Amino acid sequence: MRHWPNDRIDLRSDTVTQPTPSMRKAMANAPVGDDVYGEDPTVLELERRVAAMCGMESALFLPSGTMANAVAVRTHTRPGDEIILEREAHIYLYEGGGFAALSGCSVAFVDGDRGRMAPEHVRAAIRKAEGSGSHFPDGRLICIENTSNRGGGSCYALEDLDAIAAVGRDTGCALHVDGARLMNAVVATGTPAERLLQGWDSVAICLSKGLGAPMGSMLVGGAAFIARSHRWRKMFGGGMRQVGIVAAAGLHALDHHVERMADDHARARRIAEALEQHPRGVVDLGGVETNMVYFGVEGWTGQETLEHLASHGIDVLTLNEGTCRMVLHLHVTDEDVHQVLSAISAIP
Ligand SMILES: Cc1ncc(COP(=O)(O)O)c(C=O)c1O
Repeated sequence: MRHWPNDRIDLRSDTVTQPTPSMRKAMANAPVGDDVYGEDPTVLELERRVAAMCGMESALFLPSGTMANAVAVRTHTRPGDEIILEREAHIYLYEGGGFAALSGCSVAFVDGDRGRMAPEHVRAAIRKAEGSGSHFPDGRLICIENTSNRGGGSCYALEDLDAIAAVGRDTGCALHVDGARLMNAVVATGTPAERLLQGWDSVAICLSKGLGAPMGSMLVGGAAFIARSHRWRKMFGGGMRQVGIVAAAGLHALDHHVERMADDHARARRIAEALEQHPRGVVDLGGVETNMVYFGVEGWTGQETLEHLASHGIDVLTLNEGTCRMVLHLHVTDEDVHQVLSAISAIP
């Protein structure tokens, strides 16, 4: 449901959501204080709630997912350390090289399956200075993305999460989850966040994507880790004052926008099935696990596909030569999905 004048169906990203009227009301009524002094009751409530949800000791409210990941990397590592990342990880591709500029880290790449790293490949990618005649950096942090954005919204299997956590423990590496869309994984797999994160040191969760808040991310972890992250947040300029007005949107989202993500996932699936049935549709149906559909149209460039859909009032993103992306979110209705299905059947 859209609450503002707009005749477009915007499927470019789940970041395009706008606060609903009831979310705006919760924001307007939120008690606030100076959060840099630790005195904003709404932020404190959100931090307590998200820490409990993750089965971890503490949480920290930050302006963005990029900053939450940057603070996590900075807190877990020292300059000269190496991070183990899937080749198309958001932290590597889309965060401005912050891991290098802000933390002085290099990256060891692992090729993934739809964005997910296999535990044995993670283990093989970890290098240590010791025993290398000082040739290698110290692999000290493993970061995964759950769900994986470039992996098409794929979810990690629980046994792989546990096995990668065991690799981290065996090799002295810290373990961080870029969980920008962790709640999509929770809903899609039916596994509570606490279990998905068992054995992991930290997670960054975005409130601004499928959850529909206008901004904000949570960094969650042990009390000592969060205390050190608090200082890096300040240094990175992420200490905010009466920000309970925004934290209230996060609390509202956790109350009202989690279970409904199952609708986004079902709608993504319907669209993907229609694409698969179209003679020119190119889609990996098995890869559509949550709210994203990566697809193409045989014989068309991504731009041609985008233009066809745009002429039917539907906005998507092109990712490369032939591939486009649709992302389902809380403003997309069943009628919108019908319009998408007719635009697909209108592909000649
Ligand atoms: C997997 C992933 N991590 C982190 C981020 C960064 O979030 P933000 O845009 O709030 O900085 C995004 C944003 O799309 C993302 O998809």
